[in-house]
Amino acid sequence: MIKAVRGTRDILPPDSALFELVEERAREVFHLYNFQEIRTPIFEDTQLFSRSVGEETDIVGKEMFTWEDKARAQSEKAQSLTLRPENTAGVVRAYIEHKLGDKGQLQKLYYIGPQFRRERPQKGRYRQFYQIGAEVIGPPSAGSESPARDAEVIEMLAALLDRVGIKGSTLQLNSVGCANDRAKYNEALRAALKPVVGQMCVDCQRRAETNPLRVLDCKVPEDQPIIAKLPKISDYLDEPCREHFAEVKKILDAVGVKYEVNERMVRGLDYYTRTTFEFTHGGLGAQSALLGGGRYDGLSEALGGPKAPGIGFALGLDRFVIALQSETQSAQTPSVKAFIAPLGDGMNAAAAKLARELRAQGVALDLGDESFRLKKSFEAAERAGAQFVIIVGENEVKADAFAVKDIKSGEQRTVARAELVQALKANP
Ligand code: HAM
Repeated sequence: MIKAVRGTRDILPPDSALFELVEERAREVFHLYNFQEIRTPIFEDTQLFSRSVGEETDIVGKEMFTWEDKARAQSEKAQSLTLRPENTAGVVRAYIEHKLGDKGQLQKLYYIGPQFRRERPQKGRYRQFYQIGAEVIGPPSAGSESPARDAEVIEMLAALLDRVGIKGSTLQLNSVGCANDRAKYNEALRAALKPVVGQMCVDCQRRAETNPLRVLDCKVPEDQPIIAKLPKISDYLDEPCREHFAEVKKILDAVGVKYEVNERMVRGLDYYTRTTFEFTHGGLGAQSALLGGGRYDGLSEALGGPKAPGIGFALGLDRFVIALQSETQSAQTPSVKAFIAPLGDGMNAAAAKLARELRAQGVALDLGDESFRLKKSFEAAERAGAQFVIIVGENEVKADAFAVKDIKSGEQRTVARAELVQALKANP
């Protein structure tokens, strides 16, 4: 038997209803905050990720699904392609490629879709997982550097969590400074690591040389006491970065969004500058990050584009669903208003015609089959969560009026075709 590949899964009803619910709420919230949708390709040139997410990150170093695409002509080299492990790089590439900055306005873009990372699968961690994310990016003249944008994105996320109905999450906030601060901090880390790095894991030994910041991502338990003693990024922020961070916090305080400052949170991607954040949730187990994001002021330039500071986030849709399931019992099974039961040979066509008319007027319904006995139709109607059964038999078709039975009360009446929609809608 062929099975779904390790780390991938089928999302079946009723769980799929929770995915749909989060997606719907997210779209509503995005529209309230004036975001519009962008859809970027699921695979991109591998260099896009190595140059943005960073060579030394776990994502690029270990987790990408990469392949060589055949050269089309002998003169051409094969192109290295990668299934996107995240969507920020794709959005910034599209921003540059389509010169979206030329409009002089902020681009507020959201996306919903699958991402791919070859991680060890466990609860809340998959190789194909789903993200809902958004990016605010634009030329500095459009206000893209303003701490007001950081605070607005974070406040929007608090609103989204409320709307979806996830309680009990914690917001962790930090600032990782700008490129200058990072260079100074990396030096300090290198110096602090020098005498102790020999006792650390091989990844840390390499990273201490190439990209010391990434030592902070290490999950090896034996390395943690060493990491805990390393210098903190907050001591290396310059004045403008400090002020920027103070303003983000001031606005969050004013709008009543609670946060904890976590000076160890550098996030696992290299493009971040200044504000970084994560929302965590206790119901998730080891993979506790519900969502993460931050500012990436130099990313566009690193990819060969114009200066275009930005901030964004991505939430793990799979993890939102787990959090929802840990708080509420289960998804409400979506139900239809009515079930149309064709009764007797030759009634399928008349039933299909009635179904088409009612659905066109916004009535959700399910349709049986003329081979069903009435009892079977009623059972199917109950499984579909229908409130009414509409019987379509020869007599009904002749009279152009249908027997409508209320499943709960058992009450049955005859309703003329023209009055059907009203009669069904009158019963919420
Ligand atoms: P990230 O922290 O790598 O950030 O991923 C964001 C969220 O995606 C995580 O908090 C988690 O909920 C979910 N996630 C990540 N990996 C997996 C996995 N293997 N299985 C299930 N869920 C997962 C980014 O991706 C950035 N692009 C976010 C961003 C946007 N920063 C700025 N703009």
